[in-house]
Amino acid sequence: MGIAEVALPTMPGAFVGHSPASNWFLRAGARRLKRNPNSVLGTRALQGHLKIPGLRSVRRQCQRIDDLARVTEGNGNWVKDAVNNVSQVLGDASVQGHAVGGDGSLNGSSVKPPPHQRRKTSSVEDEAWDLLRESVVYYCGSPVGTIAANDPNDSDPVNYDQVFIRDFIPSGIAFLLKGEYEIVRNFILHTLQLQSWEKTMDCHSPGQGLMPASFKVRTIPLDGDEDATEEVLDPDFGEAAIGRVAPVDSGLWWIILLRAYGKCSGDLSVQERIDVQTGMKMILKLCLADGFDMFPTLLVTDGSCMIDRRMGIHGHPLEIQALFYSALLCAREMLTPEDGSADLIRALNNRLIALSFHIREYYWVDMNKLNEIYRYKTEEYSYDAVNKFNIYPDQIPSWLVEWIPPKGGYLIGNLQPAHMDFRFFSLGNLWSIVSSLATTHQSHAVLDLIECKWSDLVAEMPLKICYPALENQEWKIITGSDPKNTPWSYHNGGSWPTLLWQLTVACIKMNRPEIAAKAIEVAERRISTDKWPEYYDTKRARLIGKQARLYQTWSIAGFLVAKLLIENPDAARILWNDEDAEILNALSTNRKRGKKILKKTYIV
Ligand code: GLC
Repeated sequence: MGIAEVALPTMPGAFVGHSPASNWFLRAGARRLKRNPNSVLGTRALQGHLKIPGLRSVRRQCQRIDDLARVTEGNGNWVKDAVNNVSQVLGDASVQGHAVGGDGSLNGSSVKPPPHQRRKTSSVEDEAWDLLRESVVYYCGSPVGTIAANDPNDSDPVNYDQVFIRDFIPSGIAFLLKGEYEIVRNFILHTLQLQSWEKTMDCHSPGQGLMPASFKVRTIPLDGDEDATEEVLDPDFGEAAIGRVAPVDSGLWWIILLRAYGKCSGDLSVQERIDVQTGMKMILKLCLADGFDMFPTLLVTDGSCMIDRRMGIHGHPLEIQALFYSALLCAREMLTPEDGSADLIRALNNRLIALSFHIREYYWVDMNKLNEIYRYKTEEYSYDAVNKFNIYPDQIPSWLVEWIPPKGGYLIGNLQPAHMDFRFFSLGNLWSIVSSLATTHQSHAVLDLIECKWSDLVAEMPLKICYPALENQEWKIITGSDPKNTPWSYHNGGSWPTLLWQLTVACIKMNRPEIAAKAIEVAERRISTDKWPEYYDTKRARLIGKQARLYQTWSIAGFLVAKLLIENPDAARILWNDEDAEILNALSTNRKRGKKILKKTYIV
């Protein structure tokens, strides 16, 4: 976009995306057409009249994704009822104990069932389903997502009344596992439309392909007609978020959900759509773009993922790397081969190998590795350096020396020149297992660690977002004295029930579902009585979080997904990535050939 188009009158401090709604709605459509030739929005939204009993005639201006898809694809292949039909046939199968492969076939080998096999649905589960359904957000009459928190007594919901991309993932999975595919399909297609909005903060536009952190359905007066309103989707790309954080994880989760949708429903028509393929490529291009990076890991600012406040996770945080790796693998499965995509596929494959090597080799810590770091020489110049990142052993924190168990290990939170963030971050570690970014040995070791450190990581509510908390001077310097992130609260060592679903997928993948089953039992004891809090505080997760929202949707959905998967472990396959033989081969070939090649290829 040229500077002239930036709408200079809005600066300073105003955001183009937040000029009067009806204007930006239309403007966004026009701009999208310019930037993205596969746009569906550019074909114009369809308009319709709809009478709501007891209300005035309301005109809604809605983006009818299905009709527009036909225009975009230009053929008659898209059958409107296909999804519903597939849902009916495959949905039943998936709830009866079979996950469905990407080709629509039922998966073969089964995963070890949990100790307490099929039970009757508990009332906690019934309540969770009711609450999840109540949290559904509609756009032009169709379900498009779930609100982040739905506490009727909360008079100041801030932005928790929005649909967050990352928060919707467990909701979407729960609906998929229940055979209810429509909401997930709508979510995927509507958020895709938001992706190409021209978003600007103080005259600066972030990279094309960025997915919003959240969106809201707004009903606004229609220009020139005081009796009429229209519904519009109002996205937040971080330009309104606290701290103006960039939602790097949104696009990665979107790709992961897209694959899960196809695998679970058997409906591959969504991922095959031209606009969906283009959206996927835009995310990939943004992530794979050349920069100043020396490492294959994605370089991001602080707060660019689930931890969306300053917590000292800028640089190369594990969570982003695990999601990145997973999204690359998922996208590779879904990209349709075509002229012009060869370079992208090549870049994607190279990155997968480099990323996998880098994380497995340099992020891993266990007793042996810690001892190695403890005895590191420093200031090593040259290709032969053992201590490549110049880590000073003095930075090994004293808690870790006590904490690291003889059996077990984990991937550290972040790695930068002369800096290892030794904190244990749950989501990054769990998703490294799920995506096979961690080796099989490492994956088991992480689960060993969780078992061994149960009273630190699970205690009275699963699961600590990170361990340990930053305290005293460290808290002051690293969080900027953030009163919401005080020690053992919120992102700083708080416990988040939503993480239960990722724990369950990881445990099932490693054929150790009993660990997840135990954590689910812990959660079930109090989560409903406590009104489904967003997070818990204190070292042992004894108290409901100081500022935690109640009826937090992803706590509810995370619990439901964990329950559904533990009863039907095979269904977890829609989420995990198997170890890729080619990557493994490339890594072992490189190792066999000796350090020289690896050094030249991946490490500078
Ligand atoms: C908080 C969390 C973030 C979540 C949002 C909505 O900001 O840190 O991860 O997406 O709330 O629930």
